[in-house]
Amino acid sequence: MARYRYPIPPSHEITPRDVYARRRRFMKQAAAVLGATALPGLFPASALAWRDQVSEAEPGRLGTDETLTDRETATSYNNFFEFGTGKEDPKRHAQQLRTDPWSVSIEGEVRRPGTYPLEDILKPHDLEERIYRLRCVEAWSMVIPWVGFPLRDLLRRFEPTSRARFVAFETLHDPEQMPGQRRDILDWPYREGLRLDEAMHPLTLLAVGMYGEVLPNQNGAPLRLVVPWKYGFKSIKSIVSIRLVEDRPVGSWEASQPREYGFYANVNPNVRHPRWHQATERRLGERGRRRTEMFNGYEAQVASLYTGMDLEKHF
Ligand code: MTE
Repeated sequence: MARYRYPIPPSHEITPRDVYARRRRFMKQAAAVLGATALPGLFPASALAWRDQVSEAEPGRLGTDETLTDRETATSYNNFFEFGTGKEDPKRHAQQLRTDPWSVSIEGEVRRPGTYPLEDILKPHDLEERIYRLRCVEAWSMVIPWVGFPLRDLLRRFEPTSRARFVAFETLHDPEQMPGQRRDILDWPYREGLRLDEAMHPLTLLAVGMYGEVLPNQNGAPLRLVVPWKYGFKSIKSIVSIRLVEDRPVGSWEASQPREYGFYANVNPNVRHPRWHQATERRLGERGRRRTEMFNGYEAQVASLYTGMDLEKHF
């Protein structure tokens, strides 16, 4: 199988982005036509690589028009405990993570279970850019142009059975590459879960890029979840396993401190975290604080998922 060099040369830095995107689109179409007749290998593999798709993703169709967080900040102030507990640790240490080759297993209550190379997982999906807020538990937030595709497109492809009610995700477990996993901070590998209807909501994204580029390792390369109406810890990084299950999964944070981190983790200014209030947040790059919005500002889109539920009990 062809291996793609990483990172690809940033040709968009020397070509205006729209010209670049048009050219990429043309190359992809040409590759598709040629692919049908040409011998495999005749057309440069890189023209078919999913990484090239990232920079041509359709910009900003859903989301917000708020000012974007500066890219440098969003890629230097991170939570990724596999690489340390300090906010600057992930940028410093995550570079050692090998993200290629990468495969993801889709298991459990699906008709087509298996372990698939990331290329195969992504190939049929159209990547788009979506500008979403991400709000972390410790009350900072940012606005990021993610590049990805709705998780539901992938789930549908693998055909969940009627018994599937939840989706459980796992990060890579490899203490050699992820030194944080040698310490007892969490029950590794990092785990998270969603109810199936949350996973099928069109706002729930599998991201492979941000700011028109492939995801930096510290932000969860090569594949991460983005659930914009929930606290950031639900947005699990560097995913290797997606399992459809009948019983509600327990995430790593919920397992370690169930009083502090609930399964739902919907952004809710009215529900206190035991050690700090959640009513305001600091938008990275801004002075002062702003009021936190219910469901992180996505109330109109997602409130109906929780009709009739006591959100203080199901925090
Ligand atoms: N995923 C893994 N595997 N490990 C982590 O430590 N941290 C979570 C989430 N996903 C984390 C993770 C938390 S607490 C937050 S706030 C977000 O990632 C931070 O995402 P960012 O660094 O891209 O802003």
